[in-house]
Parts: sequence; C-alpha cells; structure tokens
Amino acid sequence: MLDYRQCNLRPMTPQDLDMVLMWRNHPKIRQHMLTQHHISHEEHALWYEKSAANLQRKIMLIECNGAAFGLVHFNGIEKNACTEWGFYLSPEAPKGSGTSLGTSALSFAFNALQLHKVCGQVLDSNHASIRFHERFGFKLEGRLREQVPISSEFQDLLCFGLLKTEWSQHAVDKG
Ligand SMILES: CC(C)(COP(=O)(O)OP(=O)(O)OC[C@H]1O[C@@H](n2cnc3c(N)ncnc32)[C@H](O)[C@@H]1OP(=O)(O)O)[C@@H](O)C(=O)NCCC(=O)NCCS
Repeated sequence: MLDYRQCNLRPMTPQDLDMVLMWRNHPKIRQHMLTQHHISHEEHALWYEKSAANLQRKIMLIECNGAAFGLVHFNGIEKNACTEWGFYLSPEAPKGSGTSLGTSALSFAFNALQLHKVCGQVLDSNHASIRFHERFGFKLEGRLREQVPISSEFQDLLCFGLLKTEWSQHAVDKG
C-alpha cells in the first residue's frame, strides 16, 4: 500500500510523453474517459504543447521514490476560483495509489494554487471514481442526463464539487 506522505507531485515534462500516452490509451483507463478513441502520438504531443502554453492549466504527475504512477490535471486555474480536475492512474499502480493521488493533488489545489473549489465530471458507469470523489468529501451537484455519447448509447455525466472549507474539514476529520 502506498503512503501519500512518501509521494510528491511534479509537473509533467516532454520526457513523460510516451509513458503517459501508454497509460491514457490503456483500455482500463480509456473506458472511463469522456473521449475514448485511441490517441496517436501526434494528437498527444499537440495536447501537451497546448497545455504547457496555457498558464491556467497544470498537468502534474504523482511519484513515489522517483517512479511516476498517475497523472492529475487542473483546468481554468485562478486564485479563489473554481477549477476542473481530471486524473488517472497507471494501469499497474498498486492499491492505495488513488488515495495518494487524491490527497496530494487536493492539498496542492487548495494550498499551493489557493483554489476556492475543485469540480470533477464522472461518467455514470465509473463506480471507482464516484466512490473516490465521495471518499474525499465531494458533493454530487448535478447529473447531466444522457450527455456523453459512448459506443451506441448516451451516458449520464455526474458533476461533483469540493469547496476549500469542506477539504479543510475533511483533513481535520481524517486526522
Ligand atoms: C479513479 C481512480 C483514480 C480511483 O482510484 P482507487 O481505485 O480508488 O484507488 P485506491 O488504490 O486508493 O483505492 C482502491 C481501493 O482501496 C481502498 N483503499 C485505498 N487506500 C486505503 C487504505 N489506506 N486503507 C484501506 N483501504 C484503502 C479504497 O477505498 C478503494 O476501495 P474501493 O474500491 O472499495 O473503493 C482509479 O480507479 C483510476 O485511475 N481509474 C481510471 C481513470 C479514471 O476513472 N479517472 C477518473 C475519471 S473521472
């Protein structure tokens, strides 16, 4: 089991591109994303280039003893404002990795980035991510009905939100 106290977040660099693409294209990850096509190296490189040039966007990797095992991104970053996040683990990440990623990323969001609120959007079928958001104290704020076309049907999209005050209280309660 990973211990979040031994983990740290760092910005993604161009050297991480291949590893991150492997994670993102893996069926275990891809099936939970809002866009589920196979991403090419070109599309991935363009995504990274655009993201790196956007001052309101951060793509961070979480690592333990120098080995990266997950990615988290924040979009629309502004002090005291609401920001979207998204994340995924390496398909080989050990148990406890999600908890370490969430703890480190939310501490970064509210302490370093000084955000007011973090928002996440989750497909109705993604039970692990729904549990994950609830575990960190996120509130379900809305359900966009039949919002995302997946294969031959539409899935509901769940909107979760966590306020800085709720995160502080969650951190106190968890000790
Ligand atoms: C969403 C995601 C990050 C969630 O991670 P996770 O599986 O909850 O990560 P963990 O390894 O911390 O938790 C696995 C289980 O171990 C449990 N666990 C974690 N740390 C624990 C600890 N210290 N003690 C006891 N149990 C623990 C968790 O409660 C969880 O149990 P559950 O499956 O019954 O809820 C991961 O599933 C993932 O990357 N999914 C694919 C991509 C994705 O869906 N991204 C989000 C899109 S919205």
